[in-house]
Amino acid sequence: MKPIRIIFLSLFVLAITPAFAEDGGLLSGETMNYIGYGAIMLALITLCIAMYVVLKAFRVVAQILLGPEGLEKEKTSKVALKAERKAARADRLNKLLSLKPMSEEKSILIEHDYDGIQELDNPTPAWFMYLFYVTIAFAIGYLLIYHVFGVGQLQYDEYRTEMAAAAKEKAAFLAKSADKVDENTVKLTTDAGALAAGKSVFQERCAACHGVNGQGMVGPNLTDDYWLHGNSINDIFKTIKYGVQSKGMPTWESQLTPKQISDVANFIKSLHGSNPANPKEPQGTKIAEDNGSTSAKEAKAKTAMVVK
Ligand code: HEC
Repeated sequence: MKPIRIIFLSLFVLAITPAFAEDGGLLSGETMNYIGYGAIMLALITLCIAMYVVLKAFRVVAQILLGPEGLEKEKTSKVALKAERKAARADRLNKLLSLKPMSEEKSILIEHDYDGIQELDNPTPAWFMYLFYVTIAFAIGYLLIYHVFGVGQLQYDEYRTEMAAAAKEKAAFLAKSADKVDENTVKLTTDAGALAAGKSVFQERCAACHGVNGQGMVGPNLTDDYWLHGNSINDIFKTIKYGVQSKGMPTWESQLTPKQISDVANFIKSLHGSNPANPKEPQGTKIAEDNGSTSAKEAKAKTAMVVK
């Protein structure tokens, strides 16, 4: 007995250790999980088999203890019990359906017959009446809850509550997705809130090099028609995000959130043509205001189509 136990125990331990092992083993965490689940299933199946075997063994023991005669007695008493139970069940069913047994049908026979066709005066089935009482109780409860005490919400209120919750979720989602913007998805906007936020970022972080009004100092003038790295909202976002470190323009990826970069990029777009005092001399190539901007290009294509 003992050696078998030891073998089983060690097998079991071997089977579950991988499930607890840290990453870095030969097998991935997922595979180990599967092995763990497999071990548990195997243990459960083994348990079932063991229980079945024990049950069988009990039967055999009972047979031996009772002997052939006892066994026969046991069987007949079982059959009698079964018949009794069946009768009780039929009785209960009859009660539920409010049916009289065939033998008592005479008492509910109605006194007329049509060409030998007779009719029984069966009452409404009990199950149906119970259902009916339940609907009455339900109606009273409903009336009290929804119309008298106002505990529950009627459809319209429920709708409004759900819509309010959804609006909240939507706002949270939008706030989150606003921070997921990158140089490919950034959009041109004239939203006053976004521009104001962009302006404060600009004053705080960029004005030192680009001038308080974007007229240019160490960094280039951001209000004129000349650009070194493109003037579409996407280009500007990219320049701010990654910087041009060899030329002295820092990267802002790690210091500003994507939303902040988008705001300040839009603020820069809004500065175009503002003609500040003491502008720095133009740098880069002259680009018309909307050139390179995807949204502007699309808008142009659309107007062209309308004109045609
Ligand atoms: C340390 C100085 C410095 C700071 C701070 C700075 N920049 Fe610049 N920036 C530069 C320089 C220098 C360039 C020119 C890079 C080049 O020559 O390629 C530049 C270029 C740019 C350009 C590209 C202009 C073009 O012509 O294509 C943009 C847009 C820009 N900066 C935006 C910003 C914004 C927004 C901030 C603040 C978040 C900022 N910069 C902060 C120095 C700075």
